Amino acid sequence: MAQPVAIEVWNPNGKYRVISTKPMPGTRWINLLIEQDCRVEICTQKKTILSVEDIIALIGDKCDGVIGQLTEDWGDTLFSALSKAGGKAFSNMAVGYNNVDVNAATKYGVAVGNTPGVLTETTAELAASLSLAAARRIVEADEFMRTGLYDGWLPHLFVGNLLKGQTVGVIGAGRIGSAYARMMVEGFKMNLIYYDLYQSTRLEKFFLKANGEQPVTWKRASSMEEVLREADVISLHPILDKTTYHLVNKDSLAVMKKEAILVNCSRGPVIDEVALVEHLKQNPMFRVGLDVFEDEPYMKPGLSEMKNAIVVPHIASASKWTREGMATLAALNVLGKMKGYPVWSDPNRVDLFLDENSPPPAASPSIVNAKALGLPVSKL
Ligand code: DGY
Repeated sequence: MAQPVAIEVWNPNGKYRVISTKPMPGTRWINLLIEQDCRVEICTQKKTILSVEDIIALIGDKCDGVIGQLTEDWGDTLFSALSKAGGKAFSNMAVGYNNVDVNAATKYGVAVGNTPGVLTETTAELAASLSLAAARRIVEADEFMRTGLYDGWLPHLFVGNLLKGQTVGVIGAGRIGSAYARMMVEGFKMNLIYYDLYQSTRLEKFFLKANGEQPVTWKRASSMEEVLREADVISLHPILDKTTYHLVNKDSLAVMKKEAILVNCSRGPVIDEVALVEHLKQNPMFRVGLDVFEDEPYMKPGLSEMKNAIVVPHIASASKWTREGMATLAALNVLGKMKGYPVWSDPNRVDLFLDENSPPPAASPSIVNAKALGLPVSKL
């Protein structure tokens, strides 16, 4: 039996009942919902990850829409419960939606929103931070200082890698991968090699052809292996699906340079973490910066002891602006579906929804199953 869940209620007499399974940053998202006659219920339960039963209890008998989190298992059971309660709108507060069974949602006529366009630079900045921190051994050095071990400058103390002139490899050159590549090339004058099933016009047109400075070079690799073999720093930015599960495994690690740096801000299961721990043990000069983990929130045995691993708790999108923007987009996805608004035509260009000084467009910013549900697209 599900326990009763603690909630905070805003605008109790609102016509539409919208649930957020977590408190989310900022208040704009709440105000936007209230202004449109929503009763907003926010789950305040002191439990980091809600179970399916908890969420069913939250949904109750009448619920018009839910804003959920990437830690929750949104499958047939939850979409069936939402649909029975009269709800037709759900949004993840995330760009990734591997926790959502979109086909199940579509079966029940529920729209699934996500939040692209607002976390690109923030996520790329964390990937860049992990790259730098790994290259210059910042976390190890910080720990050394705090434990009182520093007793004077030494020629060999925490010697790391110079990024300038080395090659940065990007696997998955979509929005975030491209932004990261540009940061590393522009900021640190690294050469670039990227692999993606599709040519990245974002990179090739927007940045490199226009602004590339000699002697920086760039190329699109014909295979992932080429990137693994040639790059000194490799950042992973694919979506997680069955084609990218354990994309980096024992064999692919073996191809990489012994002193390479591997960064992952995408999804944990893209790396075979057991193989990675073994590789880190065998190759002390190989370094890794991880924001995500295979069995989140857990790490595979041995990872936390590795000095050549930097680990942070899935914070790539954690800038105030981005997190408040994600909350706003998620709320507007749900609101738009409930009100029958069309879906925004370009989910990458969401600035108009984020401008606090003007009302957002009457549209859902990003609905991933819009086509399958036959939803109208905004002409704006
Ligand atoms: C996302 O939005 O998918 C991110 O992983 C959240 O940080």
